[in-house]
Amino acid sequence: MQSWIPLIPERASTLAGRVDGLYFYLVGVTIFFSLLISVTLIFFVIKYRRRSDSEVPRPVAGSLKLETLWSVIPFLISMSMFVWGADLYFAQYRMPKDALEIYVVGKQWMWKIQHTTGQREINELHVPVGRKIKLIMTTEDVIHDFFVPAFRTKADVVPGRYTSLWFEPTKTGRYHLFCAEYCGTNHSGMIGSVIVMEPTEFDQWLAGGADQDSPVVAGQKLFQSQGCTSCHGVNGEGGKGPPLLSLFGSSVKLDNGQTVTADENYIRSSIRAPQAQIVEGFRQPLMPTYFKEQLSEEQLLQIMMFIKSLNPPGAAGGTMAPALGNAQATGSATPSSSPAK
Ligand code: CUA
Repeated sequence: MQSWIPLIPERASTLAGRVDGLYFYLVGVTIFFSLLISVTLIFFVIKYRRRSDSEVPRPVAGSLKLETLWSVIPFLISMSMFVWGADLYFAQYRMPKDALEIYVVGKQWMWKIQHTTGQREINELHVPVGRKIKLIMTTEDVIHDFFVPAFRTKADVVPGRYTSLWFEPTKTGRYHLFCAEYCGTNHSGMIGSVIVMEPTEFDQWLAGGADQDSPVVAGQKLFQSQGCTSCHGVNGEGGKGPPLLSLFGSSVKLDNGQTVTADENYIRSSIRAPQAQIVEGFRQPLMPTYFKEQLSEEQLLQIMMFIKSLNPPGAAGGTMAPALGNAQATGSATPSSSPAK
């Protein structure tokens, strides 16, 4: 499965060809100008060498035309790099709405993966071919970086927040997964594989882990065992605390007049530091702050997925349906979020 040139890994995602295109363009321009400059330099050194001790060269007067030309051409070339690069950057780091979501927790020195059906894996990531995959990632300790050379994509995995990464594999096979951020003694050992499978094979593989609780169910259990229900309601309908139904993806009005979007990072920080952003109308600091110590990153993710599943479209069925429904924050501006004052 490995590529025949170690320097150029196999291309196995929709963006890989585009990244290589830009890369070869940059290398091509660099080689072209390096050659042009060194060859002309050598040529002129020889052509205009001093022929006798008394020789006085003709003074150079300069040429506006020439100077304009060698300013405008490099300008256009560098702008082409900028526009091309920016276009590709947006394609790579704007998350598609219809992607299959998978959760990743980095840890010295391993990658822990959890699928929405409950299937878990370590240092391996199984994905179906021809499908957009979105990874939602965080870490339990230091910064790591999720890097799959064959997909030509990588993203930092940062403690204290979620970052995401997407790709669409185009070929089945097993591809290298690396940590691309120095993270301590065994950084070089923080490696794994991405296994791209045919969709039917992938479904079978996913079904193999069906005995485990899906993260939504695990999250719901935590929601009950941690006592969240006493303020937010058994089904997240709210009470002493803000309601959680339809919360995900909506805009939330805060006590300080700000409005924020309830995305993954908002929910995470609301659990860990509930006093930082208070929902309008919920001034008394009722929510305990000990969840920060009490819940692991994985448990936080599970609770978050439970809260995500409380959105109407996938409400009850969010459990087994493999992430198709709740991936979309359909028309995020649902007005239902602001609590009745
Ligand atoms: Cu994790 Cu380097």
